[in-house]
Amino acid sequence: MDNPFIIKPYKSKDLFCDREQELELMLRNCLNFTDMTLISQRRLGKTGLILRLFDEIKEKHAEISTIYIDILASRRIDDFIKLLAEGAMRSFKPKTSIGDKFLSFIKSLRPQLSFDNITGEPQLQLTYNTAQEKEYTLRGLLEFLDQQGTHIVIAIDEFQQIREYPEESMEALLRTYIQHTHNLTFIFSGSKKHLMTDIFINEKKPFYSSTTFVSLDKISSSSYSTFIRRLFSQSGKVISDEAIDFILEWTRRHTYYTQQLCHTVYANGDSDINVAQVKTACNQLLEQGEYTYLQYRQMLTPKQWNFLIAVAKEGIIHKATSAEILSKYKLGTPSSVTRLIDSLREKGLINDEVSLEGTSYSLNDVFLSHWLESL
Ligand SMILES: Nc1ncnc2c1ncn2[C@@H]1O[C@H](COP(=O)(O)OP(=O)(O)OP(=O)(O)O)[C@@H](O)[C@H]1O
Ligand SMILES: [Mg+2]
Repeated sequence: MDNPFIIKPYKSKDLFCDREQELELMLRNCLNFTDMTLISQRRLGKTGLILRLFDEIKEKHAEISTIYIDILASRRIDDFIKLLAEGAMRSFKPKTSIGDKFLSFIKSLRPQLSFDNITGEPQLQLTYNTAQEKEYTLRGLLEFLDQQGTHIVIAIDEFQQIREYPEESMEALLRTYIQHTHNLTFIFSGSKKHLMTDIFINEKKPFYSSTTFVSLDKISSSSYSTFIRRLFSQSGKVISDEAIDFILEWTRRHTYYTQQLCHTVYANGDSDINVAQVKTACNQLLEQGEYTYLQYRQMLTPKQWNFLIAVAKEGIIHKATSAEILSKYKLGTPSSVTRLIDSLREKGLINDEVSLEGTSYSLNDVFLSHWLESL
């Protein structure tokens, strides 16, 4: 039997834990043509949830079509158009009515069209003479999709990447084109929280107040316990309650890390799993990570590294610039800590959580946090 603890975003409903409420909310938004912004810290399950939603739509609302694109690797508007067109081609296969129309539409743009030898996925090369041509193409593409008389949900993952584009007008263009569509619903997802929030809640920015927010938190202990117990027992293995509690606590219920640990415990092959077997797997994971963690140390300044250790040892820091923390870890002045936080957040190493009590910080990588704690 395959390892049921997947470490890819999504495989099937059966191997996906909970997210029932979020799923219901997102489905309702889709049915009501409400555009959404999905934000969470890294590796908590945004992409998985979108794919789970699309699976649900396919099963229960076959009248709705879905397009998923991940724009993380895109550098400019050209790449965005290419990804969107390829995403549409994946959803609207040739020999269906929209598929054929879409192919003719694409051909009218005079692209070079090829197919990946291994995956068979379409690959497009579009050439433009002017910036204006790109804008026309983007608008044309969205108009085409809008005019097919069918409801299409388009998820744009890692949306904050558009902030990296040299075309500063991208946000305004996209917002304008989207505003004029009637049959499209958009899901904008991303993990760079400060960029995503700036795009959607800064009143000076085009997307201000244009979407409803779906926030993704950690999965509850009770749901995750039941899930873990079920997947082990379906494979003829028994796991103790203490072992499950240990897994959830050690991984802080951060989905990616919980899945990784369960995956490793499962892969080790024991059929009777207790805390000892789990601890063995934890050590294996820390050993496997060590090479990467040492690379981080190379990449960071000694001050940044020390601050990471401080956050790891505290687990979570509520008042990063308090006198107590500054002197305990010899961090210097409050303003230097603010700079450290900005740079480490930019590198994706620390995560900030804003609540009524203020901002708290923790390491994004739970395993790195445990490894640093032991230094
Ligand atoms: N509900 C779930 N049930 C089981 N595993 C999940 C669930 N959600 C996420 N995962 C696991 O967690 C990992 C991270 O999920 P995913 O890639 O969806 O997160 P993300 O928020 O999109 O991350 P990133 O910010 O890196 O894009 C996945 O590899 C998957 O194995
Ligand atoms: Mg993702």
